[in-house]
Amino acid sequence: MSAKIVTYEELKANSTKEQLWVLLHEKVYNVTKFIDEHPGGDEVILAETGKDATEAFEDVGHSDEARALLADMLVGDFEKDGVLKVKSATKSSSSSSSAVNSAVQQGSNMMYFVPLGLLGAYFAWRFYSSGSL
Ligand code: HEM
Repeated sequence: MSAKIVTYEELKANSTKEQLWVLLHEKVYNVTKFIDEHPGGDEVILAETGKDATEAFEDVGHSDEARALLADMLVGDFEKDGVLKVKSATKSSSSSSSAVNSAVQQGSNMMYFVPLGLLGAYFAWRFYSSGSL
């Protein structure tokens, strides 16, 4: 069973108190019924509609109980390459720059191995030369 993919347009279309979806951790939740029960009030959630609410949600430090409530409200996964760049997507950056990053990382690995190899060679030389004395 594949999860429904929610587009940015759909997220925007469900931004009213009558029909309210929020985007958290790349997933979209229908909080229409829940909003009246929200201990933090409805304004805070209404302020996060049509955008990534992850940061606001995490800043509050919601309990595990609060997170458990989300399971029943799940609509689907948010589109990956939508207009709205979700937090984790921006963090990992574009694929081209991550390729550059790994290339740089490989380069810096070499920078560790070369001096280490030289150090090893030096100690090997010391060991053998002192042994032969
Ligand atoms: C959309 C899914 C959300 C759910 C299921 C949810 C659930 C809850 C629950 C159960 C609590 C009680 C304390 C706890 O158990 O952690 C709470 C408190 C709170 N929530 Fe949310 N929340 C959601 C979204 C948000 C968002 C987007 C904000 C935006 C800032 C927010 C702000 C707050 C605040 C400020 C409190 C503290 C209220 C107080 O202690 O007086 N919540 N939430």
